[in-house]
Amino acid sequence: MVDSTSPERAAMYGSNRLQIGLFGPNCSSGRAVTMAPERWSGSWQDNLALAHMADEAGIDFLLPIARWKGYGGDTDYQGATLETLTWASGLLASTKRITVFGTVHAPLFNPVIAAKECVTADHIGSGRFGLNLVVGWNEGEFEMFGVEQREHEKRYEFAQEWLDAIKMIWSPKSDFDFEGQYFQLKGIRGKPKPFAGSRPLIMNAGASPTGRAFAVRNCDAFFLQASRTSSEETAASIKKAKDLAHEHGREIGCYSVGVVTCRRTKKEAEDYYQHIIIDSADYSAIDSILAMKDITPETKGQEEFERQRRFYANGMGGLPLIGDPDHVAKIMADLSHAGLTGMGISFINYLKELPFFCDEVLPRLERLGVRQKRAQSHALSA
Ligand SMILES: Cc1cc2nc3c(=O)[nH]c(=O)nc-3n(C[C@H](O)[C@H](O)[C@H](O)COP(=O)(O)O)c2cc1C
Repeated sequence: MVDSTSPERAAMYGSNRLQIGLFGPNCSSGRAVTMAPERWSGSWQDNLALAHMADEAGIDFLLPIARWKGYGGDTDYQGATLETLTWASGLLASTKRITVFGTVHAPLFNPVIAAKECVTADHIGSGRFGLNLVVGWNEGEFEMFGVEQREHEKRYEFAQEWLDAIKMIWSPKSDFDFEGQYFQLKGIRGKPKPFAGSRPLIMNAGASPTGRAFAVRNCDAFFLQASRTSSEETAASIKKAKDLAHEHGREIGCYSVGVVTCRRTKKEAEDYYQHIIIDSADYSAIDSILAMKDITPETKGQEEFERQRRFYANGMGGLPLIGDPDHVAKIMADLSHAGLTGMGISFINYLKELPFFCDEVLPRLERLGVRQKRAQSHALSA
């Protein structure tokens, strides 16, 4: 069985110590639960323009969110989303360097079909496709498919079989049976194989002990939460995940999620953050998301509920990076020094904010030694 990807794919065909990706642009509102009118459209035209801009600027990856049903509220937060495998295929066809992930809910996709969809995207992108495997947490979404969500531990048991089947289909094997507890598949044949003899990069972001164990056992890239208090804490989480992977004889890259509000001055950035995330938050959508996660005044107490609610518009759990370019670059470089392989970041309006980030933050990251100058960073040519 193919159980690791190539070093070139893992490095996203570059030599950046800190890889940077854009997280969530396939969804309306992106990752900001805000009513601000400039919030992200999530339209195909905007996604395409963003992918071109990111590809040109040397951004390493695009990571979508597989969301089937929006969260309602005044804005119907993430109510309009582009399906991620078809989104990735379209973007891979029209970009040259950037790695593009597709996010698949294992319980909703037959593995034989998913394996072929991923391979197709991978060929379209000449080896630049990555798979984000998720098991799902939002039960309303599953009801819509008539699929019952399994009890938490069983979700990852199921995902293990699903991924084992996918990896076998991607391996040189042909005409084989798969006999599992959840899948009994006969005479499997899957051609072509992934591009150029190595399998796509696989990522997962399990947060529970079971989810984390699954990720380090099976994936190349693991998303964990960066500490909001110290880079030592982040370094400890990274070490723990890497040590766990080593116990399985595997190397993994550790990634995290950031929400960037970067402006010329600290005050400008803080004012904008206050305006978008606090003053213009879509609190009715936030309350519905929190209720899905069983976070209510009854379960958490009024004070804790208010605390979580207050900042929830900030991308559902990402690390806020608020400040001038020096500050944002320093936090990112510190995270790299703590062992982070990459970050998936989001903006309120990706297209409007990315140019300033690329002009001001990327050169600082180069000077801080965590990213290569753009011309040197990408080996994959058209
Ligand atoms: C970077 C990142 C991307 C994620 N993408 C999705 C997604 O697209 N769809 C989804 O249902 N869950 C997504 N999740 C949720 C995780 O896959 C996972 O279910 C969640 O962190 C809870 O962990 P657990 O499954 O171990 O309980 C994402 C989480 C992170 C941090």
